[in-house]
Amino acid sequence: MLKTFTKTPHLKPVTKWVGGKRQLLKELTALLPAEYNRYFEPFVGGGALLFDLAPQTAVINDLNPELMNLYQVIKDTPDQLIACLEQHQLHNSKDYYLELRSADRDGRIDQFSMVERAARFVYMLKVDFNGIYRVNSKGQFNVPYGRYVHPKIADRENIITVHQFFKEQQITLLNSDFATACETATAHDLVYFDPPYIPLTETANFTSYTKDGFGMADQLRLRDLFFDLKQRGVQVMLSNSDTPVTRKLYQSATIHTVSASRAINSVGSKRGKVGEVIITSYDHS
Ligand SMILES: C[S@@+](CC[C@H](N)C(=O)[O-])C[C@H]1O[C@@H](n2cnc3c(N)ncnc32)[C@H](O)[C@@H]1O
Repeated sequence: MLKTFTKTPHLKPVTKWVGGKRQLLKELTALLPAEYNRYFEPFVGGGALLFDLAPQTAVINDLNPELMNLYQVIKDTPDQLIACLEQHQLHNSKDYYLELRSADRDGRIDQFSMVERAARFVYMLKVDFNGIYRVNSKGQFNVPYGRYVHPKIADRENIITVHQFFKEQQITLLNSDFATACETATAHDLVYFDPPYIPLTETANFTSYTKDGFGMADQLRLRDLFFDLKQRGVQVMLSNSDTPVTRKLYQSATIHTVSASRAINSVGSKRGKVGEVIITSYDHS
């Protein structure tokens, strides 16, 4: 059975992330298989379940290059990252934020080191409106400055804790498509998929994309991969919105309805409740 990381049990996400799973942790952990070898999380985002489980061997992946750059920097050079964040903490203001934000508009970002890019990314998510990551069609960050009174920008303790976890355990970091991230999964491994959700209003023929550019073709690729992994003896768990489309796609798997619905829209005024499902390739008793 997989042992968990025990030296520093208080791992928590480094950044807020839309779709973060902290509120669903209880339901997710209750549905984990009793035993598994390696842990794979191909849509890791803020990594709520990863940090809660703190597995000894894991492959984590996200298509977002800024996010995976951050994890790489935490693994390799945490002290430099903290020093850079302390500078942002010192200078934090709306003007300072807007100036740093514009680095992807005037090309300055191309000259940034990995550490500078990671620190800009963390800083912006700590102080921007609702902690959202959003870029326009040109890939330029466009979220306004938020209204936090004392945002904790340089969280040294947590960065060092996550660094130790990445270094002392076997954590592989990838920045690719979810399918590539699963290529090495074998029998008895566990894969947890938390994809961009199927929109609630769409029909089975939907063609629109979520803001992550994740459309029906991707949902179908994911469904096929889910059953392919199952065939290979891999244990698979997946979360998604509770829609007729989701239920149809996964009708031959085990679908668990999450009873407590939660807010998914990060824009406060549009906050709505949505049902979610957790789908497993295995029976859970
Ligand atoms: C719902 S979020 C995951 C939230 C995460 N479980 C957490 O607790 O923060 C979905 C993630 O999928 C990523 N993503 C979108 N398309 C992807 C793809 N084709 N392959 C891998 N990751 C992708 C997004 O960048 C985003 O971080």
